[in-house]
Amino acid sequence: MKVVSVVGARPQFVKAAAVSHRLRERHVEVLVHTGQHYDYEMSGIFFDGLDLPAPDVNLEAGSGSHGRQTGAMLAGIERVLEREKPDCLLIYGDTNSTLAGALAASKLRVPVAHIEAGLRSFNRGMPEEINRVVADRLSAQLFCPSDTAVRNLAAEGIRDQVHMVGDVMLDVLHGAQQRADQRRSEILARFGVEHGGYLLATVHRAENTDDPRRFEDIFTALDSLDEPVVFPAHPRLRRLLTDHGRRLKPHIRIVDPLGYVDTVALLGSSRLVLTDSGGLQKEAYWLRVPCVTLRPETEWVETVETGWNRLVGSDPERIREAVRAFAPPASHPVLYGDGLASARCVELLA
Ligand code: UD1
Repeated sequence: MKVVSVVGARPQFVKAAAVSHRLRERHVEVLVHTGQHYDYEMSGIFFDGLDLPAPDVNLEAGSGSHGRQTGAMLAGIERVLEREKPDCLLIYGDTNSTLAGALAASKLRVPVAHIEAGLRSFNRGMPEEINRVVADRLSAQLFCPSDTAVRNLAAEGIRDQVHMVGDVMLDVLHGAQQRADQRRSEILARFGVEHGGYLLATVHRAENTDDPRRFEDIFTALDSLDEPVVFPAHPRLRRLLTDHGRRLKPHIRIVDPLGYVDTVALLGSSRLVLTDSGGLQKEAYWLRVPCVTLRPETEWVETVETGWNRLVGSDPERIREAVRAFAPPASHPVLYGDGLASARCVELLA
């Protein structure tokens, strides 16, 4: 089979790293990078640090409004599909690159396979939720990371070709853990922190960064903590901090975005993580690090149900309380599969 895979944003590079090589053992893959993320720390660092083949095509769509960005990708992916005439198009996750891939392929009657299908926050205020709903509706094969995702699809009437395969991000984590262990002491020394003696924080979602009230609430809470906080900052966040002239207390160390292996190393040694990222919520769970999620809801409900993740939104008092008093339970059930999801996806694709 010839498969066109579409990636474009950080989490998709990680997911494709699990699938791409395996796919190429049996099929021909054309890897399309939409160019949604383009800074080295947001894109190239993942191709260099993970076992991910270089993109065959880069559409260089870049940043812009949702319409402009998605439209540029849509036109670019359509050109690739017309040229390559693949048997199927593979999309990952819930970004604008995912949406553009699903739309371009379905209009050309190229079957779409969606990895990380069925997740829902039930919050249509999130651009990702719109992308998920549309991508799943248009997909011919749906690869789900959890039983909840399978149920979400069934509730929308999507039952055919829905497969619970587990999470491909766990495959990547298993593959990277040894390298993360080797990098750990250097990373901790670089940021001047000790194993178990700091918090890791990330904030990148539009609903937190683009709402001045929430943005200020989150940083008020972080300012009031009395532990070191290592904060790898998405470029938009860094720009906002500069634009607002927001000064932070010295225990908060804003650093450049990190590659995958370094992130795993830093997360694994942190006492607790504060984040609005979906990927980090799961990685924290797998690494047994308590997670405080800076959102009112999550797609990864199992991490909350097991007691390892707390949803606190942006309320400073709830954030402080969660950081201070969070004691995760002794039990740690297996979540999101067994680390063999990518093999199942490739098998089912055929
Ligand atoms: C996107 C995804 C989000 C995902 C995140 C992972 C959508 C709607 N959102 O959000 O689901 O969790 O990626 O990181 O697709 N920018 C740079 N350099 C870059 C990339 C972005 O400076 O290399 C800045 C630009 O100002 C840009 C802004 O970040 O406008 C936002 O980037 P964008 O790709 O629109 O969305 P993300 O917030 O990264």
